[in-house]
Amino acid sequence: MGVKITATGHYLPPHVVTNDDLTVFMDTSDEWIQKRTGISQRHIAINENTSDLAAEAAKRILASRNMDATELDFILVATMTPDAQSPSTACKVQEKIGATKAFCFDMNAACSGFIFALSTAMHVMQSGSYQKGLVLGAETMSKIINWQDRSTAVLFGDGAGGVLLEQSAQNYFLAEDLHSDGTRYMSLTADEKAVLHPFQSDAPKGNQYLSMDGRGIFDFVSRNVPETIHQVLEKAACKKEDVSWVIAHQANRRLLEVLSKKVKIPLEKFATNIAQTGNTSAASVPILLDQMIQEGTIQIGSGETILLTGFGGGLTWGSIMMNI
Ligand code: ACO
Repeated sequence: MGVKITATGHYLPPHVVTNDDLTVFMDTSDEWIQKRTGISQRHIAINENTSDLAAEAAKRILASRNMDATELDFILVATMTPDAQSPSTACKVQEKIGATKAFCFDMNAACSGFIFALSTAMHVMQSGSYQKGLVLGAETMSKIINWQDRSTAVLFGDGAGGVLLEQSAQNYFLAEDLHSDGTRYMSLTADEKAVLHPFQSDAPKGNQYLSMDGRGIFDFVSRNVPETIHQVLEKAACKKEDVSWVIAHQANRRLLEVLSKKVKIPLEKFATNIAQTGNTSAASVPILLDQMIQEGTIQIGSGETILLTGFGGGLTWGSIMMNI
């Protein structure tokens, strides 16, 4: 049973916050942020939650395929910033777009969320039971950021992107390689809930904000992500030269440079939009993929080989190789 991506879409909330805007209330500078991260601006949601961004991306995906939402068998949303614990963000997207027959659920693998969700959805479809499904990555990172903490606040942005998967005679997914290491979970945490009940007086406190060991994450990505790129190439029996584009999670431009050097794939093949979007966590890979398709850099149906790779909190990391 084959599965292919037949449409893509993304939505960035209209409000743009530049590095200079941040200097108004934070001790930072455009120079520091650009030099350390490559980020010059990010989009921030005003009066929109994660499901609103995801629903807008979903509408754009369906419009580009001229398809009605009622045809969808499932909606899977990767997010670490859901609107609520319940209902899932995916169920709210279903309501907003009228996907009446879809089954809907969320997945959280932090910044690797879209890669993990795409793999899950691909396997769900390979069961043969479902014809069409949406895989979305959507985040409102702005609501879990401590805007007084310059070491994290400058890095993130909001947005949503996704793909439509459909069954096809040929399988377009070549290989995948997914990993987690919960022993290193403290490197990146967000919205940690306190255990609150009337039977315990000394309950541990939660922490609503994102907290990150920046150096630790940098080391983790530099060590573990080259391995997953090598692994997925090997599993797909592909050479580096076969890869047209590496679409990696957009955390930091310096990290892309490190990855390029370590895996010996030229930096020109590492697509990037980090300057305009910042780190949009689970949304970064599908936003970038759709932007490349919209500008004609990648064409659906071209058969080109692309390598998607994600890494983030959990810790989680992994890659997917596919023909597009
Ligand atoms: N503006 C100005 N100065 C700052 C800022 C800021 N926004 N943030 C920190 N500084 C200061 C620090 O206080 C420190 O000052 P000091 O030397 O006087 O103590 C100095 O800059 C250096 O701070 P470091 O944290 O050592 O800076 P570093 O060079 O490590 O860069 C960064 C920080 C960009 C976070 C880097 O560690 C990194 O890229 N880490 C990867 C983590 C990442 O990208 N995470 C994204 C989320 S996780 C994910 O998506 C996988």
